[in-house]
Amino acid sequence: MDLDALFELVRLKSGRCSIRCRTHNETMHIGTDPCTEAAELHVRPQRIAERAREAAGSGTPFVVWDVGLGPAGNAIATLETLRTVEAPVEIHSFEIDTRVLEFALRHAQALGYLAGWEEPVRALLARGEARPLPHVLWRLHRGDYLGQIPSAPPPAAIFHDPYSPARNPAMWNTDVFRAARERVGEGRCLLTNYTRSTAVRVTLALSGWWVGYGAATGEKEQTTVAASVPELLKRPLDGAWLRRVRASTNAAPQRGGAYARGPIGEADFAALCALPQFAQTCRLMGEVPSSTE
Ligand SMILES: C[S@@+](CC[C@H](N)C(=O)[O-])C[C@H]1O[C@@H](n2cnc3c(N)ncnc32)[C@H](O)[C@@H]1O
Repeated sequence: MDLDALFELVRLKSGRCSIRCRTHNETMHIGTDPCTEAAELHVRPQRIAERAREAAGSGTPFVVWDVGLGPAGNAIATLETLRTVEAPVEIHSFEIDTRVLEFALRHAQALGYLAGWEEPVRALLARGEARPLPHVLWRLHRGDYLGQIPSAPPPAAIFHDPYSPARNPAMWNTDVFRAARERVGEGRCLLTNYTRSTAVRVTLALSGWWVGYGAATGEKEQTTVAASVPELLKRPLDGAWLRRVRASTNAAPQRGGAYARGPIGEADFAALCALPQFAQTCRLMGEVPSSTE
């Protein structure tokens, strides 16, 4: 299908350009613009520059997973940050359909952020690998993310950026988050994403992640950050959030590929309360179900 039938350039409130996917009816980076959102939501909260420098002494590269490469806003923002960081980094981008990146390349001038990075982007598309900076290896994993997870090295940072849970539910379920958590293993990893959905946070927690309040970006006061170890979280979800889980009409964890909304069930709430992150708070709130006592 013609690229223009799939995507269109749109002007955001900020005056900058972004891309709308006609089939998903979603505009990317709608709050600000591709690079501002990438910096506010992923690169800065993940402390990419500092953590890559810290990792340099370990002898292994700092590994970033860029889930949903799309038009590469997050990847390019990461590269811009890494220009002055002399530490080995690998960016592993996952994408099921690279046509949006081809569309972005065609409109590199209007989009702005791709300027100067066209050659590595072309190499990535052509060969699945590029070296955009001497110390950075950029690899593309084509196909469905879940199936590609085993072929990428364990990450220290995950930018989880597919389309929304309502339009892209298979990317927000327990299978996906659990598989990523298992790949991290004993490592220290942060996962950032743009949603503040109670259901997504419940899904992350029940998939083995510690979950916290994420940075504000654009018109969003809050997003979500998850970590493989609690000490990486600045603001872990707390009792106020657990009360919200109880009251919400959309707190059931996402399982499977069909988008399902609903309140959390008793068994899932008990499982949440049994997690180390919430066990004490649940007890203080008198929320420990008899089955787990
Ligand atoms: C919102 S866009 C990503 C924007 C991009 N991260 C950026 O910074 O410019 C979402 C991307 O996720 C991709 N995607 C959706 N489902 C996927 C899947 N199952 N596996 C891999 N990529 C997927 C879409 O094709 C789309 O390009």
